[in-house]
Order: sequence, then C-alpha cells, then structure tokens
Amino acid sequence: MHNDILRVLYTEEQLKTRVKEMAEQIRHDLKGQVILTVGVLRGAVMFYADLVRELDMPVHMNFMSVSSYGSSSVSSGAVRIQYDLEEDISGKNVLIIEDIVDSGLTLKYLTSTLKSRNPAMLKTCCLFDKPERRTVDFTPDYVGFEVPDVFIVGYGLDYAEKYRNLKYIGELKPDVYKSQ
Ligand code: IMP
Ligand code: MG
Repeated sequence: MHNDILRVLYTEEQLKTRVKEMAEQIRHDLKGQVILTVGVLRGAVMFYADLVRELDMPVHMNFMSVSSYGSSSVSSGAVRIQYDLEEDISGKNVLIIEDIVDSGLTLKYLTSTLKSRNPAMLKTCCLFDKPERRTVDFTPDYVGFEVPDVFIVGYGLDYAEKYRNLKYIGELKPDVYKSQ
C-alpha cells in the first residue's frame, strides 16, 4: 500500500489537530442545538467517527450513500443515492459530513435533495476541498484543508476501494491510476 504513495500530504497528527479545530468551530456555531449528523458513506467514515467524538455535544448519527467514482479517478458526472436516510428530517438541524468536494456535483445534489425535505438547518462539512476542480457552484460551510488538484487517498478516501485504511493522507502516484 505505502509503495503507491508519492508523498504524505497530512500526517495522522495533522489530521487529528484539524479535526479537533473543526469540531470546536462547529460546536461554537451550533451550540444549544441537537444536530443530526449525516455521514456520506464510505469515504467520510474515518473523519465522521473522529469529528463526532470531538464535538462533545448531543448529536444523532445517520448515514447516506451516494454513487461514487467506481474504479476511475474522474467523476462520471452522475449522482445517485444508493442508500437513503430512513428518518424524516423535517424541522431537524442537519449537518452533512463528507470527505472531499471535487466537482461539487455530489454535495450540490445531496443538499438540494435534503433541502426539499424541509430541515430546520442544513450545513455541510468536508475535510478536503479541491476548489480548482469545481464544475458547479457549491461552497461547503466547513472545510478542513484546501488541497491541490492531485488524487489523494487514506483516512477513508479510496482509489478503487483501496487505501481507505491508511492513517495518513497521501498523494497517489499517477502511474497507479494511469495504468488501469
Ligand atoms: P464530486 O461530486 O466531484 O465533488 O466528488 C466528490 C467525491 O469524489 C468524494 O466524495 C470522493 O468520494 C471522490 N473524490 C474526489 N476527489 C478524490 C480524491 O482525490 N481521492 C479520493 N476520492 C476523491
Ligand atoms: Mg465521498
């Protein structure tokens, strides 16, 4: 696994520090409310688990799954809900927790879908943002790190389902995805 990594972008320690800071900001902004955190499977799973434990306030936990890249490193452009929330979110304070915003298609679609269900609040929180790659207008409410236009893996993020369990964020060697 480690051989496919060109360089480490964020160490385990750096991720931990930033997640803690993000949690503090969110707790400050959303104080006194019960939040329904919605994790976007599967990329956000590590970030989600670490963030909610740092939040230190009442949260409800739920998950959704949307169609992702498959084994390609470029988005198909089509977004589909694979696993939907089973609960009614009307009147609830919803915080979507996602790994990374790239083109913005996924979160644009997800937020407009969830907005139509009339939540009291809908905010988005992403660990990574690649603003250079945006093809649709979308700005997350909370961002951990802005990253350049390189393919990153680890801490939940995959390439062809691999590397999710790396403890750090690494830049994948281009020949790994170009050879497939
Ligand atoms: P978007 O719809 O183009 O914004 O894509 C968002 C999704 O693409 C994320 O939730 C990730 O699953 C995936 N993605 C985008 N960039 C990367 C990357 O550098 N590494 C791993 N997954 C990525
Ligand atoms: Mg994702």
